[in-house]
Amino acid sequence: MHQFSKNIGSFVFQFDEEIGKNISCELARQENNLELIASENLTSLAVMAAMGSVLTNKYAEGYPKKRYYGGCEFVDNIENIATQRACKIFCAEHANVQPHSGASANFAVYFAILKPGDKVLGMNLSSGGHLTHGSFVNVSGRYFNFHHYDVDPITHQIDYELLYEKALKIKPKLIVCGASAYPRTINFKKFKEIASACGAYLMADIAHIAGLIVARLHPNPFPFADFVTTTTHKTLRGPRSGLILCKKKFAKLIDSAVFPGTQGGPLMHVVAAKAICFKEAQTEEFKKYSKRVVENALTLSNQLLRKGINLISGGTDNHLILLDLRNTGVTGKELQNFLESVNITTNKNTIPGEKLSPFITSGLRIGTPFVTTRGFGFREMEEISEFIFMAIKDFDKNKNWIKKEVCKICKKYPLYKIKTMN
Ligand SMILES: Cc1ncc(COP(=O)(O)O)c(C=O)c1O
Repeated sequence: MHQFSKNIGSFVFQFDEEIGKNISCELARQENNLELIASENLTSLAVMAAMGSVLTNKYAEGYPKKRYYGGCEFVDNIENIATQRACKIFCAEHANVQPHSGASANFAVYFAILKPGDKVLGMNLSSGGHLTHGSFVNVSGRYFNFHHYDVDPITHQIDYELLYEKALKIKPKLIVCGASAYPRTINFKKFKEIASACGAYLMADIAHIAGLIVARLHPNPFPFADFVTTTTHKTLRGPRSGLILCKKKFAKLIDSAVFPGTQGGPLMHVVAAKAICFKEAQTEEFKKYSKRVVENALTLSNQLLRKGINLISGGTDNHLILLDLRNTGVTGKELQNFLESVNITTNKNTIPGEKLSPFITSGLRIGTPFVTTRGFGFREMEEISEFIFMAIKDFDKNKNWIKKEVCKICKKYPLYKIKTMN
C-alpha cells in the first residue's frame, strides 16, 4: 500500500522530473516529520486514488439529472451518493458537495443570503476566527459589513452574554460561529438563541471540528444552524475540499449560489473522494481515531501545562491547542522555525489580545489529527510535550537530541502502515 503513494512520485518522474521529484520529496517530508498542524491529516489511499482518477476528465456543470453536459450518468451517481452520505453523517436535510474549499463554501452562503453592505457578526481573527469571517483582506470583509465578537480576555472563551448584547445592538442579518483556533466546545444552541433574538440567520463553520461532530465528540450544529459549512480535509480526514449543509427550505438557494452563483463545473474526482471519506467516517475505526484525537490533545495539553507552558483558555476540549508564548522569550515565528529545523511542523498563530504582527505572533497552534491517524498515543504525546518544552528552554543545546528522538518516532510509525482503509 505504501508502495502506491511512493509510486506516484516515481510514475510522474518518468514524464516530468521536476514535479515527480518534488512529489517524492514531499512524501519523504511527511514521513520524516511530526505534522502537528491542526488543520492537516493523512487521507486514506482510497481517497487519494479517487482524486487521481479519470473523473478529473469530466465536465459536469449543474446538478444530477440537470447538467449542462452529456455523459454524466456515472458522475450523477457519484454526486448523489456523496450528497446522501453527507446528509446522513451530519444529520442534515440538504447537502451541496460541490464547493471546492472551505472558503468557497463560506462565500457561497454569503452570496446566497446577503447583499453587499449587509451586516454580519463573526468571530475576530485574533480570537480564533477565520479570514473568511470578515477580515478586510478577504472578500467577506470588503463586500459585507462585518462586525466582530471577541473571546473573554481572561478565560479566552466566548462570552455568550456579551455576544447577546452585541448582537442585539448590531442586529446583523447573519451570525457566523465556528473558528480556526478555538480550543473549546462551541455552544450552537446558545448561538441559535442569540440569532433568533435579533432575527439573524445562523451559519456554523465547522471546518475544524467536522470529524469530531460526526464521531459525536462535539455537539452537532443541527438543528440549530440554518447553514453549516465545512472543509473535508481536517479532522474529517477526506480530500482537500468543502461542503455546505442546510435546512431543506434553503436547498435551492444554496445550490444556485454554488452553481452558477460562485463556481463553475464541480471537481468530480474530489466529489468522489468526499463520498469515500463520508463512508469512512461511518466506521468504528473512524470513531476510535476521533476519540483518540481528543484524548491525545488532552494528554498533550496537560503535559505542556505541567511543564509550565501557558495555553490559551487553559487547555482544550477538541483537537487543537494554542500555546501562549508571552512569558517564554520566544515568539511564535521563532518557535515554529526552531521546531521545523528538528522535523516538527507547526504554525505560528495570533492569540487573543495579540500585540505582535501576524507574521511574528505570540502563539503557536498545534493539533493531533495527523499524528493520531499515524498511530500516536499517550507516550508519544508525552514525548512531543518534552520536545516543545526543550525547544523553548534552550533550543541550541537541545536541538540535536530532539531531532534524533523525532527520527526514532517517525521510523516507528511509517505513513499508512497502520491504516486499514482498503
Ligand atoms: C474555520 C475555517 N473556515 C474556513 C477555512 C477555509 O478552508 P479552505 O482553506 O479549504 O478554503 C478554514 C481553513 O483553515 C477554517 O479553519
